[in-house]
Amino acid sequence: MKNLSKTAKKILKTNRRKGYTLPTNNKLYPAQWNWDSAFISIGYSYFNLEYAIKELETLIKGQWKNGMIPHILFHEKDDSYFPNHKTWKCGNSVSSSGITQPPIVATALKLIITRNKLNKNQKKRVILLIKKLKKYHDWFYKYRDPKNTGLVSIIHPWESGLDNSPLWDSSLKKIKIDKKLSYKRRDLEVSNSKARPLNSDYDCYITLLNQFKKLNYNPNKLYSNSMFNVVDIGFNSIFLKASKDLLEIAKLYNLNLKDLNKKIFKTESSLLKMYNKKKNIFYSYDLKNKFFINIPSISNYFILFADLNDKKVNKKIIESLKKYNQKEKYIFSSIKPDHKSFEEKRYWRGPVWINTNWIIYQSLKNKDKVYAKKIKDKTIKLIEEKNFFEYYSCKNAETLGANNFSWSSALYLDLIYESN
Ligand code: SER
Repeated sequence: MKNLSKTAKKILKTNRRKGYTLPTNNKLYPAQWNWDSAFISIGYSYFNLEYAIKELETLIKGQWKNGMIPHILFHEKDDSYFPNHKTWKCGNSVSSSGITQPPIVATALKLIITRNKLNKNQKKRVILLIKKLKKYHDWFYKYRDPKNTGLVSIIHPWESGLDNSPLWDSSLKKIKIDKKLSYKRRDLEVSNSKARPLNSDYDCYITLLNQFKKLNYNPNKLYSNSMFNVVDIGFNSIFLKASKDLLEIAKLYNLNLKDLNKKIFKTESSLLKMYNKKKNIFYSYDLKNKFFINIPSISNYFILFADLNDKKVNKKIIESLKKYNQKEKYIFSSIKPDHKSFEEKRYWRGPVWINTNWIIYQSLKNKDKVYAKKIKDKTIKLIEEKNFFEYYSCKNAETLGANNFSWSSALYLDLIYESN
């Protein structure tokens, strides 16, 4: 198979703007996204450390005074995206969305700085980033877990990163759609509607957005009033792993992130309590409507990424993961293919995504080396056969969504170059 490292680097450089990188080179996503940037920075760290650090600095420049790092930063006032800065109407020094995204930034920063030698100036900047990330993690504990349960909530499906996943279907059904809703989608002008979320999904997304705007993005009110409030296993696993990584890198610079250790301990034990022994799975929980979300999603397995200190549970979950895509040629489908909600081509309702494969691969490296290697090889092969797309069918690797996708390129570089 041909090595595509040159193409991957070229894609990242082409998609790069002033200090940040677009998720792709077409009009679909003309801004900076939170978790995209984190993945992208890992890719840069193999050929341009300055770009890697700058990517995260530009993201954190958009941090709100209360500590939140938004899910989208609109550095340029580009009207071709919906909902853009005019719809959200918020942000501190940078116009932004009013919600966040899976906080994988600290994990990315750890990978970048442990694999590179930093000069004095870079060290200084990294220390600043660590302090700001601590503020971000504090914001989660303060505003997304006000009752101190150890688990944080997402208040919008966009925050999960898995927008239209069937995970959110039942919760979204309970939302009262704004009757006077009027908006124009722009994504369908540049992407196939068969592979994008439905209009009925967007009705929910925009109803929630309008509700948040009306509440002036007051974080206390958003938590208690949002019509969507879910403890997502995937999100909490990423959050816990990132908190552990943040603590570790702080120690490298003798920074004392007081109380984070205690919080990590609590999140870890609360997450473990979510284990459903009978079904051998971790289910997300709808806090608003009080039910467990029993949908077989690949993100349920992100619990392995959290590195829970329970070998028995981890082993059982790996056994379950091995059965998840038993019949599929291409792994991992975002939803288990035999589930009634599975759709082969529609965004987060079935297709294979490179970032979720990468998360699962990272999760298994210290738990099941042989299986981890298999996942890595299959992911590299998929990209080398089909190029750097946004997502792919698990049945025949049909390419879907945008081409020249930045995180697929960045994570490919990580998979082929990583040494630890
Ligand atoms: N992923 C969303 C979109 O498709 C936004 O976060 O626009």
